Amino acid sequence: MAKTDIKDIQLRVVFTGKGTKTIEAEVISANGRGRAVAPSGTSAGSHEALAFPSKPEQLVKRAQDELIPELLGQDATQQKKIDNIISVVDNTKNFSHIGGSVAIAISTAALKCAASCYGKELFQYLNPKAKSIPKPLGKVFGGGTHTLLTTSDIQEILVLPKKNNAKANIEIMQNIQSDFGAYLKNKKIFAGRDLEGGWTAEMSSEQVLDIVKKLADKHGANIGLDIAASEFYKNNKYRYIDGRNLNAEEQKEYVKKLISKYKIKYVEDPFHEDDFESFAALTKEAKGCIICGDDLFTTNPYILQKGIGMKAANAIIIKPNQIGTITETLRTVEIAKRQNYQIVFSHRSGDTCDTAISQLAVGTEAQIIKCGIIGGERTSKLNELIRIEETLKH
Ligand code: PGA
Ligand code: ZN
Repeated sequence: MAKTDIKDIQLRVVFTGKGTKTIEAEVISANGRGRAVAPSGTSAGSHEALAFPSKPEQLVKRAQDELIPELLGQDATQQKKIDNIISVVDNTKNFSHIGGSVAIAISTAALKCAASCYGKELFQYLNPKAKSIPKPLGKVFGGGTHTLLTTSDIQEILVLPKKNNAKANIEIMQNIQSDFGAYLKNKKIFAGRDLEGGWTAEMSSEQVLDIVKKLADKHGANIGLDIAASEFYKNNKYRYIDGRNLNAEEQKEYVKKLISKYKIKYVEDPFHEDDFESFAALTKEAKGCIICGDDLFTTNPYILQKGIGMKAANAIIIKPNQIGTITETLRTVEIAKRQNYQIVFSHRSGDTCDTAISQLAVGTEAQIIKCGIIGGERTSKLNELIRIEETLKH
């Protein structure tokens, strides 16, 4: 048995920061090991891999019976082969047998095991030439399905710091987050935290944007939005809490108004997940703004190809668990890069302290990483960027 051959795979049910069950995998070879946890979404796109087709405990049992025997003895450094076995054993289009959470946990743990066999950090193993750190994009305020308080329809009001240094950028985000908290306290606004640690309160998106714009200017950041529009699109209209019911054209004009009023640099999912035409129109009309597809593309190389053909968006969210394997994730990244789409690696609202996306974002030379501002599972990913930056300097 070669030293990089897989000699054991352990699976267990663990918890996300949201309190839901998920899958952790450990892939072990003679001279390396890797551990990875599948995150899970709340406002998930409908074209994503099916994370939990059965209860997590049943998925573990199924994988132990059907998948793990096929993977034992395989070379951990042969990622494509491992991911192919996972897909073949699953034998569905969206991991609805083996479970997307099992697939991505094993696939990522195999990659980490391979990197550890060579004594390398994951990003270096993936790409020895990687030398830049993505800019963090962090959520100051959460609305939509990420909070119990029905407030802002827009799911995420984000900031994108302007410096070229991970630690300085994280500090800028923290200062904005903390100043926003001070504003809430000062005004005696009843507030809480959303699933990703962002502030949440009974405030409209524009009330929040008025404050965040001032703080972003003060600290040196641009503003971003994840509208997650599929979540409030019902019967052909975008239905806002304040009573507005907008059609696609009106939605586009509203988003353009927000972009120009608040000098917004990043807009994710401004339309529902199947409206490629409106995405294309906004990308053309909102010059200089990053228009990013999350639910639109679901990290799927085939859906991305369709988007490219229609010139929909100029950036893509990459969430490995949306597509289920590292091989397919990297394929999507490569296609996007060839078309000059910006790459935005992203956490999920149900996440853990696993830092794989920080490593993958650096290894693939992504421009942006969206992983929150505060809270254990968010902080772990941000702190990993500081460590990687230190390694890059030496
Ligand atoms: P999630 O959404 O709840 O599906 O993780 C986060 C996002 O829309 O970016
Ligand atoms: Zn999103």
